[in-house]
Amino acid sequence: MCGIVGYIGTKKACPILLVGLSRLEYRGYDSAGISTIEKDGLSLVKDKGRVKVLESNQEIEKLDGTIGIAHTRWATHGKPSKENSHPHQDNSKTFSVVHNGIIENYHELRNMLEQNGYNFLSQTDTEVIPNLIHYYFTKNQDSSVHGFLQAVRDCCLSLKGSFALEIISKLFPENMIVVRKDSPLVIGTCEDEKYISSDIPAILSYTRDFYLLNDLEFALLKNTEAKFYDTDLNEIDKRTSSIEWTATASEKNGYDDFMLKEIYEQPTAIRETLGAKISLNSKCNFDELKFTKEYLSNIEKIYIIACGTAMHAGLAGKNVIEKLCRIPVEVDIASEFRYRDPIINEKTLSIFISQSGETADTIAALKLAKASGSKTLAISNVIGSSITREADYSIYTHAGPEIAVASTKAYTSQVVLLNMLAVYFSEILENQPLDVINKIKQEMLDLPKKITKTFKCKNEIKAFAKKIYQEKDVFFLGRGIDETVAKEGSLKLKEISYIHSESYAAGELKHGSIALIENGVTVISVLMDKALIEKSISNIQEVISRGAKTLVVTSHDCDENMFDKVIKVPDTITYLSPIIAIIPLQLLAYYISKEKGLDVDKPRNLAKSVTVE
Ligand code: AGP
Repeated sequence: MCGIVGYIGTKKACPILLVGLSRLEYRGYDSAGISTIEKDGLSLVKDKGRVKVLESNQEIEKLDGTIGIAHTRWATHGKPSKENSHPHQDNSKTFSVVHNGIIENYHELRNMLEQNGYNFLSQTDTEVIPNLIHYYFTKNQDSSVHGFLQAVRDCCLSLKGSFALEIISKLFPENMIVVRKDSPLVIGTCEDEKYISSDIPAILSYTRDFYLLNDLEFALLKNTEAKFYDTDLNEIDKRTSSIEWTATASEKNGYDDFMLKEIYEQPTAIRETLGAKISLNSKCNFDELKFTKEYLSNIEKIYIIACGTAMHAGLAGKNVIEKLCRIPVEVDIASEFRYRDPIINEKTLSIFISQSGETADTIAALKLAKASGSKTLAISNVIGSSITREADYSIYTHAGPEIAVASTKAYTSQVVLLNMLAVYFSEILENQPLDVINKIKQEMLDLPKKITKTFKCKNEIKAFAKKIYQEKDVFFLGRGIDETVAKEGSLKLKEISYIHSESYAAGELKHGSIALIENGVTVISVLMDKALIEKSISNIQEVISRGAKTLVVTSHDCDENMFDKVIKVPDTITYLSPIIAIIPLQLLAYYISKEKGLDVDKPRNLAKSVTVE
């Protein structure tokens, strides 16, 4: 949560920072601010509200500096207000700091600083940081740039929690220091410019060469130079990584919203994720993984750990891995897994799924599994993201940048990647006949074309959205793998339309929740698993007889007169059916949100990347 951006180069920093902030607004948008190094010291312009409010501030036009830091906030400590907006400065206005993350021991640090004469203007945890840097800078009595670095290092070692920081000082008008711990931050580099950002897409239009910082590595930047240090302030060697994404991938390209664009990018995202890994004539090729038959045969349990939509992808993955590999799979929410003392040992394989690769709970769960002896495998959409750096092995979805807060193409790419992984494991285990494996592979290869066909339901969905957009409650039902789609459909609806919605295993409804069904309530059912369709239809009958309006998403023939609306989608094998069935539900959430006039890409209270626990 919160987006930070920085620039150090030869051009005016302010316009570059504003563009960066607007691209990072999906991470938080309750206030924004900028600080630059000007001839007469540090500037500071900040206010409550979106980046547009900051842009219209008259002070912004006066900023000429070529070094600056900026922030767009998602409030954690203290309500959205000018005082609580970033950047924050120390009392003497020597240091400006932007921060993404949470400082858990800020009370204790604030007390210590207050006892040493420091005053605080905000309710934020962040304000301790510039003051602490000032405290150490004065205490260490080293006024060189090394003293600046040392003060930042001493400050960071006193902090508990997570942080990505950019720090500038009026005493060092050519430098910026950046550091991260459990919060994302990348440094883009060109010959005489450095761009710093919470994510890669925000600065992709300037460079494709990035330095990726590990926890508690310090970067001391000049426009022409980037030096890196460990916590003992020994210089460390760092190479750049080149990113394949293009700058236009992070733009709307004619679509009204990123979410709609990303829904329509799903055929490409799936094709890119399949890449050259799947072919009928050879084994599934994951060169980056080194699993052996002996290792896989000895695994007693696989954990799949993730949050939100990524966890729903994990539920779909459980189905195919268990069926093909006959290894029990447990799917858990990262924030729960960590605190329930899970049984993990060297006979467990733990898979972590995260689009951003920066979700705090998922990273913490990964560290726990690793420390308990499990091998860890990360699935992410972002090369070099934190989970991929922590895990023993990493594989990637190639969905391209996902900007809308509501995840769409990352989800379907994760489901296909988990299917690929199941096939890869099964081929190593040699436990499935060739025709079974080839059928799955063929269906995977057919997905892009089938998703494109599914888009034909757009107008029917749009019309249905018009009918139900004023509803207060919507229910989603499904059995087996269809229930996992119901869960994801329900999450999509609530996060961008603010309609209360629940998903249920269709057979479970009559054990209590059916009491909520009354005349006119909308019930949306997913009927993709042929083996369960009769049973599911019986459950839908139960809600129809209590007055429910019904929408059914199915690839099978059924008596359409029975339901208010049937959306027919292309058929595929059950394992892959979530990828097809979710499309109408993504579109439904999108069109309901549009009908209500809401901000589809930046729904209230949410941020794309949840980097706090
Ligand atoms: C999905 O629409 C959500 N915005 C959210 O549930 C998301 O999937 C979750 O926060 C996990 O994010 P990650 O994949 O980046 O870890």
